[in-house]
Amino acid sequence: MLDIKITKTANPAAKPDSSKLGFGRHFTDHMFMMDYSRTEGWHDARIVPFANLSLHPAATVFHYGAEIFEGLKAYRRPDGGVQMFRPIENIRRMNNSAERLRLPQLDEEEALQILDTFVRLEESWVPSEPGTSLYLRPFLFGNDEHLGVHSIDNARFVLIASPVGSYYAEGINPVRIMIEADDVRAVRGGTGYAKCGGNYAASNRAGENAEKLGFSQVLWLDGVERKYIEEVGAMNVMFRFGDEIATPMLTGSILPGITRKSCIELLKAEGWTVNERLISIDELGEALKNGTLTEAWGCGTAAVVSPIGELFYKGESFKIGEGKIGEVTQKLYDTLTAIQWGKVEDTHGWIRKI
Ligand code: PLP
Ligand code: COI
Repeated sequence: MLDIKITKTANPAAKPDSSKLGFGRHFTDHMFMMDYSRTEGWHDARIVPFANLSLHPAATVFHYGAEIFEGLKAYRRPDGGVQMFRPIENIRRMNNSAERLRLPQLDEEEALQILDTFVRLEESWVPSEPGTSLYLRPFLFGNDEHLGVHSIDNARFVLIASPVGSYYAEGINPVRIMIEADDVRAVRGGTGYAKCGGNYAASNRAGENAEKLGFSQVLWLDGVERKYIEEVGAMNVMFRFGDEIATPMLTGSILPGITRKSCIELLKAEGWTVNERLISIDELGEALKNGTLTEAWGCGTAAVVSPIGELFYKGESFKIGEGKIGEVTQKLYDTLTAIQWGKVEDTHGWIRKI
């Protein structure tokens, strides 16, 4: 058990209007922090009033990108209680990311204790408006105070939280996605499977171009052949080809999404054939033209299940499902969100009540 020292704020903030939250713009009253040094291990676990961080200008994170993060949510149940969705999966993925970047890992039980303690303290920030939740953002970074490039001896783990609504302005309405032909996000052997800030920095140029053209996000192709579909900026993708549901297999350059994993399990339980496989851009183009691709959606913690209504590639636009959410997408959204928001009993062992 960690000894978590709690210092409460003397000035709690007013809660934002939960019908206008958007994503990641409001923050709760407190944050959790603890520090790591190679000699002491993790120490000084504390919850303090939400405030700017003070860091040495040479801190590793500013120069060499030693940063990883996670995203998970706490949901308000109809009975008024609060619960998290598969938090252990986020902790394990964070430890995998830490292994890749040589950052210190967390003890699983202690990480759960941190999440429980923090969410309990910020419980009043979990909104209850339909579709809203408290987004939890743990992050961990290298904090050595010198400019040499070598292994990390000092690090900090921080947890902040933000009451959120829909990630996309479109809500549950279909989003327009641009398939990126030039830039790549990640390659096998690189950091694609890790949730590190650098992957998102590498995505910025293509994302900005796509946004200028009116698209919500970029769909990445593999970094070597630029042929196989990988994932979207903040979500994994799934396609319905006739009776088959297909999603890109985890090749090492894609983030192993927890929503992706949950969707696969839910779809299989419904009797769908779900294949994790390579999906080439040619196959997708063919299926778009001959009408066998009837539904496409993205899935992620922030994005939940988001229908994709249009794919744009090299100057050509392909509409999917006449701008409406497809039947499988809708069903999946309903099933997943009912579990996450505690509207149905969790038969999978995915829920952690606070
Ligand atoms: N892919 C990327 C690049 C993401 O940022 C996310 C969001 O976390 C996902 C996929 C979906 O992952 P998860 O379902 O675990 O949130
Ligand atoms: C999440 O869904 O948790 C994400 O990390 C998406 C984020 C990059 C906004």
